[in-house]
Amino acid sequence: MKKPIQAAIMGVGAYLPDYRLTNAELETIVETNDEWIYTRTGIKERRILKGEGQGTSVMAIKAVQELLKKTNTDPADIDLLICATVTPDMVFPATANIIASEIGATKAFSYDLMAACSGFLYALTTGSQFIESGMYKKVVVVGADKMSSIIDYTDRATCIIFGDGAGAVLLEPTAEDVGIKDAVLRSDGSGSKFLYMPAGGSRRPPSVETVLAREHFAKQEGAAVFKFAVTNMAKAAVEVMERNQLSAEDIAFLVAHQANKRIIEATANSMNLPMDKVLMNIERYGNTTAATIPLLFWDFEKDLKKGDNLILAAFGGGFTWGSIYLKWAYNS
Ligand code: UT7
Repeated sequence: MKKPIQAAIMGVGAYLPDYRLTNAELETIVETNDEWIYTRTGIKERRILKGEGQGTSVMAIKAVQELLKKTNTDPADIDLLICATVTPDMVFPATANIIASEIGATKAFSYDLMAACSGFLYALTTGSQFIESGMYKKVVVVGADKMSSIIDYTDRATCIIFGDGAGAVLLEPTAEDVGIKDAVLRSDGSGSKFLYMPAGGSRRPPSVETVLAREHFAKQEGAAVFKFAVTNMAKAAVEVMERNQLSAEDIAFLVAHQANKRIIEATANSMNLPMDKVLMNIERYGNTTAATIPLLFWDFEKDLKKGDNLILAAFGGGFTWGSIYLKWAYNS
């Protein structure tokens, strides 16, 4: 269905820290090995943001600055900036406020959106509403996470999958038949016991006890999350395809959250999509939570052509999950 005003992604920027945490280095930290990590997850290395006082905003600011440069956008023209993250610089103010101010988005209002690994899908859908309604013309959507700040590097089942990174896109209105077409978004809070950070919130504020019990780290029951992820990410992707009468032949690429190569393969399989239509960079960056999808756009920007049908899909903490159908809007 073509809407009167469509919101389209008109550019992408990203930032990855220089430090590479390889499987070989992880072997020196926890009882694991390269073969196990690679065969179970598809990951070889992840990037880590090092240095004192370096929060998620540091990466996000660099990603947005690159985006503004590439799209020749004056930051004073930005109407709204949304930052999807579960690792904000601080609980408040919002990391989005810090980013907007640092990049010179003087006119924009800005806020954080927390939906874990589905954060970018939620934020993209939210941002696009402001464009489609005719209210705004330039919306920046950021997905950024410094997962290394909440990862327990004594927990071998969790520490091997996560990395740090940031990606950002610019949404603008278009009258052409491109842009964000449809979204299937879901959440189920009963999944919170399988993937969560026990302390640091209002229910269990920080104390000596919570620190000693290592409760300020992400806890994940990997096998349970894996099962839900495989089923629900695939279901959402198939639902958005069926709703828009799309078959596998109509789709140029699946752009899926990079949590585990096996989950992505299972999703592609449910969609009857061959693996050469699946964008993948998990091997190099691991799971960067809200940043995985914009990082895929950034990495494969040259392969994306105007008019390409893309299916985005994600699953993560909450549980949150969903899929988006969009038509890519430009050739780079
Ligand atoms: O992005 C947000 C959503 N998150 C996800 O989608 C992640 C979903 N889950 C996963 O990707 C996988 O569950 C993991 C990669 C996290 C773990 O893989 P798994 O195949 O589910 O492993 P498991 O936790 O069931 O553990 C299997 C075995 C266990 O040994 P025993 O009990 O069978 O002897 C673990 O102790 O593998 C062992 N194990 C490891 N061995 C070597 C767990 N982690 C490691 C490790 N190295 N790093």
